[in-house]
Amino acid sequence: MTLQNDLILRAARSEAVPRTPVWMMRQAGRYLPEYRALRSEDEFFTVCRTPELAAEVTLQPIERFPLDAAIIFSDILVVPQALGMDVDMVRGKGPVFTDPLESPDELARLVEPDVESALGYVADAIQLTVERLAGRVPLIGFCGAPWTLAAYMIEGSGSKSFSRARSWLYRHPDELVGLLDRLANVSIEYLDMQIRAGANLLQVFDSWAGMLGPREFERFALPTLQRIRREIGQRHPDVPVVVFAKGAHYALNDLAEAGFNVVSLDWTMDPRQARKEVGPNVALQGNLDPALLYAEPEVIRARVRDMLAAFGPVGHIANLGHGMHPDHNPDHAGAFIDAVHEVSEELIAVAAA
Ligand code: CP3
Repeated sequence: MTLQNDLILRAARSEAVPRTPVWMMRQAGRYLPEYRALRSEDEFFTVCRTPELAAEVTLQPIERFPLDAAIIFSDILVVPQALGMDVDMVRGKGPVFTDPLESPDELARLVEPDVESALGYVADAIQLTVERLAGRVPLIGFCGAPWTLAAYMIEGSGSKSFSRARSWLYRHPDELVGLLDRLANVSIEYLDMQIRAGANLLQVFDSWAGMLGPREFERFALPTLQRIRREIGQRHPDVPVVVFAKGAHYALNDLAEAGFNVVSLDWTMDPRQARKEVGPNVALQGNLDPALLYAEPEVIRARVRDMLAAFGPVGHIANLGHGMHPDHNPDHAGAFIDAVHEVSEELIAVAAA
């Protein structure tokens, strides 16, 4: 399938672009009335497991906004499910595991999944979505990073302190490393499958990286991220990979050195400082504060201008610093996207003149 718009792939490779590409984490979700309408009929994980529905939801934001990429509708927690864990999405609470891992003895419960059969529904959803996109924009595939997945599997749900999961760092470090390695093995096969199904770009979400100090990140997060990047690179050298290690300010250079094409920044990170840390050949993604979408469109536009100036015209994929919120106004998301397109085109033309 030839792509009519490959700006995000060019930006991910740090090539020059006529305007900055933009997408939004959680661009398909509850802030869209069309998503809420579909979800009122079906459970969250039923939507994920039904290719027809997953493709429809993936395309909802693409039909509404001039986005430069789609992201396949799924969840990072489908991998723990494939390992045999039971997870429900509870309204108002988020994901809840029926039986979290209470102690290392319980690691024996986990199965060694055959990714093609356990997660083949994601490949089917990707194939169907690529067909329906018909080359309009690239499709992003994704997975959760091993640390973030392990944190949910041990904690059993989201948490302020992640004290159960974090206790393993010091009480059961070797068993935790074993779990992280198993999650990495599955994630590599899973990402490989997504590329073979048609994903053009990948993102690895380490949403809870910020729960780790620098030493713990180096021991419990970085090694599997490095291995995932290396093995995907060996199998699919042309597919760019983005890493989002939320809160891990200290790790930007290590992530660039690990070979990620794009390092995604949360809104607390300074783009100019990040650029110094990753060097000139790694692209950056981000990082408008999601709360700015509560502001008026003129304010959004002014802050987009500052953001674009801070990142510069080359090697930047515009995004929020984290996902859309359910109470965001879709029109403000539209204002963000239009502002990125219009202002970046102007700044890039001025820079070229
Ligand atoms: O549009 C997209 O970004 C693609 C789909 C996507 C979802 N989850 C759909 C979703 C993606 C990429 C994810 C990744 C994901 N899932 C992450 C990493 C990104 C991040 O936000 O840090 C994490 C940590 C999860 C786990 C998860 N799933 C949580 C914590 C929650 C509850 C919080 C919330 O926003 O409700 C979910 C639920 C979820 N995943 C929803 C959606 C659209 C809302 C659930 C619903 O419809 O009821």
